[in-house]
Amino acid sequence: MTTEEDVLRVLAGVKDPELGKDVVSLHMIEGVKVEGDSVTFTLNLTTPACPLRTRLEEAAKGAVAGLPGIKSVVMKTSSNVFATRDYAGADVLKGVKNIIAVASGKGGVGKSTVAVNLAVALAESGAKVGILDADVYGPNIPLMMGVEKGPEVRDEKIIPPVAHGIKVASLGFFYNEETPVIWRGPLVAGAVRQLLTQVEWGDLDYLVCDLPPGTGDSSLTLAQTVPLGGVLIVTTPQEAALAIAAKALAMFKRLNVPILGVVENMSYFVCPHCGERTAIFSSGGGRKIATEREVDFLGEIPLGVAIREQSDKGDPIVAAMPDSPEALAYKELAFKVAGMVSIVAFAKMKK
Ligand SMILES: Nc1ncnc2c1ncn2[C@@H]1O[C@H](COP(=O)(O)OP(=O)(O)OP(=O)(O)O)[C@@H](O)[C@H]1O
Ligand SMILES: [Mg+2]
Repeated sequence: MTTEEDVLRVLAGVKDPELGKDVVSLHMIEGVKVEGDSVTFTLNLTTPACPLRTRLEEAAKGAVAGLPGIKSVVMKTSSNVFATRDYAGADVLKGVKNIIAVASGKGGVGKSTVAVNLAVALAESGAKVGILDADVYGPNIPLMMGVEKGPEVRDEKIIPPVAHGIKVASLGFFYNEETPVIWRGPLVAGAVRQLLTQVEWGDLDYLVCDLPPGTGDSSLTLAQTVPLGGVLIVTTPQEAALAIAAKALAMFKRLNVPILGVVENMSYFVCPHCGERTAIFSSGGGRKIATEREVDFLGEIPLGVAIREQSDKGDPIVAAMPDSPEALAYKELAFKVAGMVSIVAFAKMKK
């Protein structure tokens, strides 16, 4: 007769290839029950945006189905997102498990577009997500997310508006577009800190932070105020962008921020008429700096008119056209980012 111990024994042979440990030691198996010839259990993933979800599900289910006398296996999949920080005991952003920064060297490479589509893809996978716009020069995240109303202030707390299921807060909340503000260093630092401390973020699995280009006050304040789970570096393929992307990467490394990887945006254009692929800004540069700096290369996002149009409408392409090749590229990236965050979290747990 197959017992619950037998089930756990075979599941202990199923490894999470990214974390390099088996699913039982990772506490990913819950509620094992054997009744006659049928087994039920829950596979509890480290993120709902698990890039290896299907592989793990098949391996776990297959292992249990192979036990003698077992005819039916009912496996439920759930998730409990791994945390890269001590979120329960934190003074700042209590309840926020992971803070992910999106940065670049050069401006205009598509950071904010990556940040909103990353946030939407993570939220659609089932995660609780917020997005913080720390861009002092052009805080355009509310526009890209289609936020119509500003935040409410209650008891000195800022209640963020919610768009596409995501809590949104922006440096743009502190001034209106008609009034130019001279942002000196201390002012920037103070405003970023205010977004971190006074916004009612609640419990979040991921807080995505969109940074201005370069290595200025916002990036420094963010990295020095809260422990970041990691930073995603966005670059375009041309040489000019790559050299500065490498500088940004070096700065975050120096600040001890884990580098989640590099993504190459505007990698290629697929002609809507003939389907021919053209590398308008050349290609392969993102992979090259990732390899040179020994960090992961997380993929390529094509240049697509719909990406820009959807951003301008406040309806990110991942939400509006989820099956388009562009949305699929962002979703693949989001799942890889979530996987990298789990790896960083796991490495911290082992310490
Ligand atoms: N893959 C893409 N295909 C087509 N258009 C894109 C793509 N990525 C970004 N864009 C467009 O390029 C412009 C710049 O993108 P975005 O604002 O995301 O860049 P950024 O790096 O955040 O810029 P900044 O440095 O000013 O903050 C936007 O109009 C956006 O819609
Ligand atoms: Mg931007």
